[in-house]
Amino acid sequence: MTDLLQLPSKPCALRVMPQPADANIHGDVFGGWIMAQVDIAGSIPASRRANGRVATIAVNSFLFKQPVFVGDLLSFYADIVKTGNTSVTVSVEVYAQRMSLAQEVVKVTEAILTYVATDSDRRPRALPVLD
Ligand SMILES: CC(C)(COP(=O)(O)OP(=O)(O)OC[C@H]1O[C@@H](n2cnc3c(N)ncnc32)[C@H](O)[C@@H]1OP(=O)(O)O)[C@@H](O)C(=O)NCCC(=O)NCCS
Repeated sequence: MTDLLQLPSKPCALRVMPQPADANIHGDVFGGWIMAQVDIAGSIPASRRANGRVATIAVNSFLFKQPVFVGDLLSFYADIVKTGNTSVTVSVEVYAQRMSLAQEVVKVTEAILTYVATDSDRRPRALPVLD
């Protein structure tokens, strides 16, 4: 059964609508396309915290809870859940607003990714100290 939800009230990191080129012949969006968008969304708070360049070092978990269809309006919510010396771990949750009059909202994906702050030689660098 599909859960009926509201979008979270917090700001989303990214909002995008998948197009036919992002899906198979049945209109189901490729998992790899969703993973790429999740990676981008997660990198936004990670780059802000790092005050610069980051590289994705790990996809710790990734769950496709519901399918995504061409024409869904996808909203990506990205929150830092952990920081280390050089790393930032981010939780990303993705909600789809289906293209229907019913304004159906479905949580489609949740993932945890770790990013590492890197210097101009692509080596790990310490996160800046927060005031
Ligand atoms: C990111 C990169 C520069 C890190 O260099 P490294 O020498 O492997 O890193 P380190 O072993 O010093 O670890 C750096 C941080 O990552 C963390 N880390 C390492 N392996 C991890 C894993 N499997 N899961 C989560 N965190 C991990 C470490 O705990 C450390 O965090 P901390 O400093 O906060 O304690 C290097 O691994 C790299 O270039 N990877 C490729 C990145 C890339 O191309 N990503 C795009 C995907 S194709």
